[in-house]
Amino acid sequence: MIEGSFVERATDRHVRLRRHLLRDGRQALPMPAGFDRPFPLGLDGELPQHALARLRNRGAVALRLDEPLPAHRFTALGARLGHAIAETDPAVLPYVENEVILNLVSRHPETDDVAVQPFAGNFLSLHSESSGQPLPRQPRYIVLMCHEPGEGTAQTVLVPMEAVADRLSDRQLAVLSHTRYQRAGAPSAILRRVGVRPVFSFRDFMAQPLAWCHQSPDGTGADTVDAAIRALLAAMYTPDGVVGVRWQRGLLVVIDNTFFFHGRTAGRVSATHPTPRRRHLQRLRIAEV
Ligand SMILES: [Fe+2]
Repeated sequence: MIEGSFVERATDRHVRLRRHLLRDGRQALPMPAGFDRPFPLGLDGELPQHALARLRNRGAVALRLDEPLPAHRFTALGARLGHAIAETDPAVLPYVENEVILNLVSRHPETDDVAVQPFAGNFLSLHSESSGQPLPRQPRYIVLMCHEPGEGTAQTVLVPMEAVADRLSDRQLAVLSHTRYQRAGAPSAILRRVGVRPVFSFRDFMAQPLAWCHQSPDGTGADTVDAAIRALLAAMYTPDGVVGVRWQRGLLVVIDNTFFFHGRTAGRVSATHPTPRRRHLQRLRIAEV
């Protein structure tokens, strides 16, 4: 086994692509397939069968609600998809409701404090949810419900993992499937297969170093692992195939964490002129039962 630490360089291709996609690009991204006509929620509060089929086949589905659901109905809807994972990170606890609902409210101006960034005007780098957790603690689904889209332009960005894998060489894919984060609790490999689909557990940590370990029988060197991670990041931020959610009050979106990386474009949050129209989404993380 070898260990190493990946550190991004200012000259890496993904740094420029990331800046353009998430921070400077001002164009609205195309919507995911079918999101222009969201499904209505079933009268019984169930996800309709054809919405579930869309989620199964395409990895994301949008539903239109007359009004955002109250907390107990939101959690009930999540329970139909699996088991909601409790929010226990002390940094987010002030934003947690009923243990499992995270209120994503943009109330801070741009900040370097990673813990505050989900609640600020920053962009959020691409990631799969809970990428450093062992597989049973990584959610299968992320459910997002919009209370208030806010006045900014922040979009939730989705990048299909299959398209990312297609941009990598067989050698790079093999290296990533034998590489994992160096941390306690048996994190999963960066790349695995679910059926025939490539599935990544990976976050772009940006300027933060990523300590990794690599285990394969063929004597791969640290430079090769770093190069595969660098290639993965460039593939993630390649703009072809990237889609974005433009939020409206009452829009509910379910994202399959094994189909898409997700992130967020930068919004605008004024510290000096707090607006009552702050962006407010609620999130559930759902593990498969
Ligand atoms: Fe996330």
